[in-house]
Amino acid sequence: MSTGLFLVQFVLLMIMLKDHECNAAIKLHNDKRANDTLLIIIDESFVDSLDRNIEQQVRQIVSEISSRILKKGAVDILYHSNANIYLEPDVTAVFSMTSCLDLWTLFNRGKKFDILFISLTEANCPRLPPDSGITVPLYRRGWEIPQIILDLREDGSLTWETTAIIFDDNLEEDMLKSIIEVLNRPKKSSEMACSVVLYRLHSFPKDIQNKKKKNMDNLLENLPPIDMVNNFLVLIDQRKITPTLELVKKMGLVIPTAQWMFVVRNLNVMKRRTSPEKRYVDLIGEGENVAFLINSTRADSRCDMGLLCNARQLVEKLIIAIEKSIEQEIILADSLSDEEWDVLKPKKLERREHILDFIKKKTRDEASDCDSCTEWIIRSSDSWGMDFVQSKGSYGNKESNSTTGALLEVGHWQPRSGLVLVDHLFPNIVGGFRGRTLPIASVHFPPWQFVKYDEFGQPSEYGGVVFNVLNELADKLNFTYEIVLLPNGTSAANKFTLHKELGEVVIDSSVEFAAWDQVVLDLKSNKVFLGAVAFVETEERKADVNFTHPVATDAYAFLVSRPKELSRALLFIQPFTGETWLCIIATILLAGPLLWFVHRVTPFYDHYSHRGKGGYTRLYNCFWYLYGALLQQGGGVMPEADSGRIVIGTWWLVVLVVVTTYSGSLVAFLTFPKMDKVISNVDQLLERSAVSGDGMITWSFPKISTIHRLLKDTDNKKFNMFYEASEKLEQLTPEIIAKIQNGEHVYIQRKTMLLYIMKQEFLRTQRCDYSIGSEEVLKERLGLVVKSNSPYLKIINQHIHDMHKVGLINKWLEDSLPKKDKCWMSTLGSSSSTHTVNMSDMQGCFFLLFIGVFTSILLIGGECFMKWWKLRKQKSIIQPFIS
Ligand SMILES: *[C@@H]1O[C@H](CO)[C@@H](O)[C@H](O)[C@H]1NC(C)=O
Ligand SMILES: *[C@@H]1O[C@H](CO)[C@@H](O)[C@H](O)[C@H]1NC(C)=O
Ligand SMILES: *[C@@H]1O[C@H](CO)[C@@H](O)[C@H](O)[C@H]1NC(C)=O
Ligand SMILES: *[C@@H]1O[C@H](CO)[C@@H](O)[C@H](O)[C@H]1NC(C)=O
Ligand SMILES: *[C@@H]1O[C@H](CO)[C@@H](O)[C@H](O)[C@H]1NC(C)=O
Ligand SMILES: *[C@@H]1O[C@H](CO)[C@@H](O)[C@H](O)[C@H]1NC(C)=O
Repeated sequence: MSTGLFLVQFVLLMIMLKDHECNAAIKLHNDKRANDTLLIIIDESFVDSLDRNIEQQVRQIVSEISSRILKKGAVDILYHSNANIYLEPDVTAVFSMTSCLDLWTLFNRGKKFDILFISLTEANCPRLPPDSGITVPLYRRGWEIPQIILDLREDGSLTWETTAIIFDDNLEEDMLKSIIEVLNRPKKSSEMACSVVLYRLHSFPKDIQNKKKKNMDNLLENLPPIDMVNNFLVLIDQRKITPTLELVKKMGLVIPTAQWMFVVRNLNVMKRRTSPEKRYVDLIGEGENVAFLINSTRADSRCDMGLLCNARQLVEKLIIAIEKSIEQEIILADSLSDEEWDVLKPKKLERREHILDFIKKKTRDEASDCDSCTEWIIRSSDSWGMDFVQSKGSYGNKESNSTTGALLEVGHWQPRSGLVLVDHLFPNIVGGFRGRTLPIASVHFPPWQFVKYDEFGQPSEYGGVVFNVLNELADKLNFTYEIVLLPNGTSAANKFTLHKELGEVVIDSSVEFAAWDQVVLDLKSNKVFLGAVAFVETEERKADVNFTHPVATDAYAFLVSRPKELSRALLFIQPFTGETWLCIIATILLAGPLLWFVHRVTPFYDHYSHRGKGGYTRLYNCFWYLYGALLQQGGGVMPEADSGRIVIGTWWLVVLVVVTTYSGSLVAFLTFPKMDKVISNVDQLLERSAVSGDGMITWSFPKISTIHRLLKDTDNKKFNMFYEASEKLEQLTPEIIAKIQNGEHVYIQRKTMLLYIMKQEFLRTQRCDYSIGSEEVLKERLGLVVKSNSPYLKIINQHIHDMHKVGLINKWLEDSLPKKDKCWMSTLGSSSSTHTVNMSDMQGCFFLLFIGVFTSILLIGGECFMKWWKLRKQKSIIQPFIS
């Protein structure tokens, strides 16, 4: 007899001796606490399929253990041979051997009673929630993979909706079936199933090393595209794992959004000396998610994994645990009065926890569990951002020691304890960059990036649209960053002109170019992860690096002098065009004679014989009458004949229309001042440049700009001319600015920069002298940059797309552009909504009145002169006759 067994017997003896002392107490307090009930459910049809005699044996085991351990009367043990029973609320624990379906029905029935379940059930059965019991699946040895996958799925670690299973002839047909069945089954928690694509690896070259890789290349070419299936479960001969991984990497299938799980079924086949992590770790690169499920079952020790072994151990542990908790309760009950006990006695849920903890602790302490040598280890890559980890002790560096490099051991699996994960199955899928610090290049270039310096000249604060985007990315992808300011040194910083309202501003595109060169160098040498600079996407630049989805578009526009308001002296003429005025005069001229003619011809007056001398019989009066009517002033007498009346009535109608139209338009002209035309496109500019002399306009670009290339390379003659005729400015000097203000020059630059220039000038002069042409010349896409073919490009793009969709980027841009001032409105071409009529609007009518008065004075003068002249003439002629 071994010492161990002897020891156990000794302890049991001690416990029994102790029992005698306690028996009195139990008797005393049994009426205080209810008896525990333990149900033993052994489903006949289920156990019969395993072993005929097993039911009897289990019963024997149970009664043997209970009589050995339990004190009489404390626990009622009830047997059932069928799972179809009613669960009483006061049942403490259930030990069951049933099919999976029965187990879950039973569990759901007793869910609200906080019953402890210890269950032996068939393989590939989802385990009960870990806090409500222990589930031991009875699987065939060597067939644990489906159960592991099921446990991973139920645990929520494997959230795959689609998966491709890549397998070869080594995999047993039945195993494959079970795996598919397990994946397809709707999850207990989320009711979600996983669709499965099967891919059989056929003739793998026997001798991989010697064969040309070419033969392999088409081996996996029929895999579904990576957009459709992101998850891969690979169950192949372990010798093929390395070449397969190399192959799928080459095919671009191992990307940050894809999850690869390789099952290493038999480690022993491989050379012992190289541990799996050593073999595979060098293959895993930046941004790849690869997990290995490794069989580390010990083959040497003899492991009993039979049903009886499990049943014996579990029942024993369960009964000991219940007994222990009863003992503790009795001790507690002893020290309390009946009333206190009623209040303080442990709740059923607490008891369940105690008992379960006790069983688990005992399992951990005892080495010789049933089937304890079966173990699978899960190792997973944690590769995101590893290229930038300071210590460089990880990937690619073979000298690294096992703690820093290698694959993380994220968990292990044993049949009884199930899955124990210490980290996420795919750490990067869940945790992104896991808080790593990535170096990121940037430069001061408003409004996209602001860098503020403290009094020591050190950068202290970052802001702007790009930094907002970066912060959002850092939040979503779980990284922190460290800014590498470009161009290196602070040469650019010294050039900033400090302005109290604008901050430090560089209105100088050369900064972008200098930064560009540096970012390309740094990205290529892997010094930085990302260029957080809003770079213009051009074809040449795309060859060096990859641009992200554009953060914004910026367009070139014209900076012109602010349009002048046109003179309003002739406002009262403006409602009608010249032709309209001419037509109206012509109408009066025509209608006068018509009225006179109708009046003369009609026989009406002859009939009544009172045709007078004055009135409408004189053409001169007709004109004056029509003019008076036009100004809505009534005339003297109406014609008496209907014919004449109709002519005048029609005239009134004409007058109504003309006058109403005129007054309506006049109001509009008063409200909306008419502006000079703004030059806002290339055609207008070219037109004006053709005019020689006073109205001639010149234009310029900044010397360093992305627009040069575009204009030079285009086939469009007009643009070529536009470019050739322009000046290229090193800097925007005050002389040029003065020329722009005078309307002799146009400056062509990105709209955002023009806004800064305008703001600067406004702050300097407090006047709005400039305006930005409303038309945009060339749109440019601005994006961040990552290394060429960076694995993260797609993820970053997705996030930027999302930011656009919710309007975040637009808001950030508005926040970082110069604040709106009174020049802003006219910049965008709209004018103020209300307008009070002032003297300059009214000047026209006063002029008119003045002209009228002046004319009438002239006429008075003329008339007096005529009278005097007539009198003199009469005198001079008549006198000789009279005398
Ligand atoms: C507990 O069981 C014993 C024996 O089976 C019985 O005598 C006793 O009345 C039971 N106690 C309660 C509270 O049900
Ligand atoms: C795991 O390894 C053990 C021992 O090497 C072996 O007996 C068993 O078949 C392996 N399991 C599988 C699923 O291959
Ligand atoms: C890992 O390497 C460092 C330096 O190379 C060494 O100081 C450390 O002890 C090593 N750690 C282990 C666990 O080997
Ligand atoms: C970010 O990474 C840290 C470090 O690994 C981790 O603790 C944290 O849970 C992660 N955050 C998210 C949101 O995944
Ligand atoms: C800055 O860049 C220049 C050349 O581009 C290089 O010679 C110099 O060493 C760099 N300085 C720093 C501090 O990196
Ligand atoms: C990234 O850049 C490389 C060349 O530098 C190009 O071949 C590739 O298509 C680019 N990727 C994307 C997504 O634009």
